[in-house]
Amino acid sequence: MHQHPAIRVLTGIKPTGSPHLGNYVGAIRPAIRASIAPNTMSFFFLADYHALIGNEDPLKVQQATLEIAASWLALGLDPSRVVFYRQSDIPEIPELCWLLTCVTAKGLLNRAHAYKAAVDANTAAGHDADHGISAGLYAYPVLMAADILMFNANRVPVGKDQVQHIEIARDLAMRFNHLFAANQPLFVLPEAQVDEDTAVLPGLDGRKMSKSYRNTIPLWLSPAELKSTIAGVVTNAKKPGEAKLVDDSALFAIYTGFASPQELESMRQHYADGIAWGDVKNMVFQAIDRELAPAREKYQAFIAKPTELERILQQGAAQARGLATPFLREIRGACGLRALVDSAPESNKASRKKSARTTTFKDSEGFRFKLLAADGTMLLESIAFENAKDCGTQIAALRAATLAQFRSTEFGCEFESSGEVLANGTEPLELVLDALAELQASSA
Ligand code: TRP
Repeated sequence: MHQHPAIRVLTGIKPTGSPHLGNYVGAIRPAIRASIAPNTMSFFFLADYHALIGNEDPLKVQQATLEIAASWLALGLDPSRVVFYRQSDIPEIPELCWLLTCVTAKGLLNRAHAYKAAVDANTAAGHDADHGISAGLYAYPVLMAADILMFNANRVPVGKDQVQHIEIARDLAMRFNHLFAANQPLFVLPEAQVDEDTAVLPGLDGRKMSKSYRNTIPLWLSPAELKSTIAGVVTNAKKPGEAKLVDDSALFAIYTGFASPQELESMRQHYADGIAWGDVKNMVFQAIDRELAPAREKYQAFIAKPTELERILQQGAAQARGLATPFLREIRGACGLRALVDSAPESNKASRKKSARTTTFKDSEGFRFKLLAADGTMLLESIAFENAKDCGTQIAALRAATLAQFRSTEFGCEFESSGEVLANGTEPLELVLDALAELQASSA
């Protein structure tokens, strides 16, 4: 019942700060395009519980959530085709997080990169190893596993830095399945999807555009601000008329993110012909502005009217909880959180696996046995024996039979012993021999 025909793809976006052009080209735009791929069910959520880690400014969390939600919707994320929600609207997620925490080895979290990096930084600075590290940072991967497993996501598109977190989610899913749902796994094992060829946009100084380098071009600048910011992108000192190289040009790399193939070709030509840097900057501005202008208006409208955004998020939450609420009930039951009168759910009941078997029965002519396949198909039915003891003796003969005692017939096959046909059936010989092998293996 957790199998959905479509592949489930899930992405979390941590609302910290406002997005920049690098986020847009490298993550937001490709994710929105992928969200409408056929045969996928996409889940996008604002990971605001994660944003609380290391952030003690309530206004900042709220503002970043508003800006990120408005950005994704303005840029074309379609809430009618994607389940779009805010993590903290789904109480099932932190609840699942606790259930997972209880099966998480502490040592596994000790080895998580983000925690280890924080410890290393402390040690290097001569601080206590855990200085300033909250239990939230430490348990970050478990919350992220809950995000993913709650919706049984098959694929999680992430950057390289997040791959270990997906591996942890897989580990926890396996462990939980093994402990509490051995017969019928509750959790799907998620896979990280790392897109090796997503564009990396350079920033103002030519290094990768990143908040930590303070070289970003914010996504939602006014046209005038965008123009003057682009004017600040580094170039070399080549004069107008001097040929320029595209390869070491940050402006050309940025242009690549927004221009058509034909435009790129003609830009290459302009470089070779010695275009002035000021003209390149103008063309880069035009290309970016052309793509962002319509979204910019929508963004401003959302920011001005958060009620509409909130309504969209509440709709998404209702959709997400429609899946999460019944699933969590099952997960709770599997690990023992269930009403006192309920018995263990099917998923973890130690039920016998059915295999091939014989049965005896009596009819007007006497006692007979049947050979049944694992799925219950009748493979052979015996002649009638006078008493139960004789019937039992012949069942033992069947169990000990050699292949030579079975034959294909016009209608199916038969079993003989001491020159007498004792049983026959209408299924093919192979099925009977398979069942016999199973019988003999189980009594060995
Ligand atoms: N940790 C992710 C990041 O920092 C955000 C995130 C939270 C996430 N939960 C997730 C991503 C679940 C994918 C799936 O980018």
